[in-house]
Amino acid sequence: MDRPPLDPDPDLPEDLEEAILELKREKGAVLLAHYYQESEVQDLADVVGDSLALARAAQEIECERIVFCGVHFMAETAAILNPGIPVIVPDLEAGCSLADGCPADEFKEFVAAHPGAKVLTYINASAAVKAMSDLICTSSNARKMVETFAGEKLIFAPDRHLARWVARETGRDDLIVWPGACVVHELFSAKGLAKLKIQHPDAEVLAHPECDQAVLDQADFIASTTGIIRRAVETRDRPSIIATEDGVFHAILQQAPDKVLYQAPGMDESCACNRCPFMRLNTLEKLYRCLRDDEPRVTVPEELARQALRPIERMLELS
Ligand code: 13P
Ligand code: SF4
Repeated sequence: MDRPPLDPDPDLPEDLEEAILELKREKGAVLLAHYYQESEVQDLADVVGDSLALARAAQEIECERIVFCGVHFMAETAAILNPGIPVIVPDLEAGCSLADGCPADEFKEFVAAHPGAKVLTYINASAAVKAMSDLICTSSNARKMVETFAGEKLIFAPDRHLARWVARETGRDDLIVWPGACVVHELFSAKGLAKLKIQHPDAEVLAHPECDQAVLDQADFIASTTGIIRRAVETRDRPSIIATEDGVFHAILQQAPDKVLYQAPGMDESCACNRCPFMRLNTLEKLYRCLRDDEPRVTVPEELARQALRPIERMLELS
């Protein structure tokens, strides 16, 4: 059935990009955006980065308000690092299957069931789960952060795929793992990837460690979003097959416009399931409105923020 046309919004300016830039200037706002945002959102951002780069930027920021185009746990991290600065997001519903799949009350019981274990938590977790952690990591520093717990009993949460990858990288086959997964990276098809490799035998496969092992087994290079972008640009004369969210294509093509890129296929070829449904909730229209209205805001209760700050700062010091 055809959908009725959307009502035009009389409140929206004709040139949205220009209006957003103007509001940003007027309100002293700094716009942080993840690589999985729409390209037009990335183009308006003051900083575009992976999870680690955005946490670092949030730590160093000086501004009147932060506008975060990413997902909820990223905005929470920025709020924890900047008590007193409002953190505004285009859409409060932009969550993450990893953070949402690890509820704080259940995680508390999980930790209690392993007395004496230290807790290393992937940044894709709620503030409440971070507050129960000894240290935070991202996909770009997970190996190094695991190594800081040599000889200690260690819980790794909440991504089982990243946990398995980092366990292999560090030789830690005793990690106690919370069994969460990313709905985007877990759905790349190993079979589809094998077919694509046959069609493009000269292409290098670049994959994110949140992918399933059957996909990682076919990868030539495994790294965080920033690592994948850097590698694709460095190998500009050779095609790359990308097994992560295709928002990274924008940054790669900005630096290497002639680069040939292929998206690793999802399990269901008829859907765009390799696009993060949460990240992509942030549209230019919502970005304009949140800047104009100064809401919705992401806030973290003071005591919780204080507890969650410690393991985040420790990661930033060690990175
Ligand atoms: P990085 O930004 O660390 O590469 O993680 C990717 C991701 O899935 C963010 O939610
Ligand atoms: Fe979460 Fe995966 Fe989306 Fe990243 S890509 S925000 S891990 S659901």
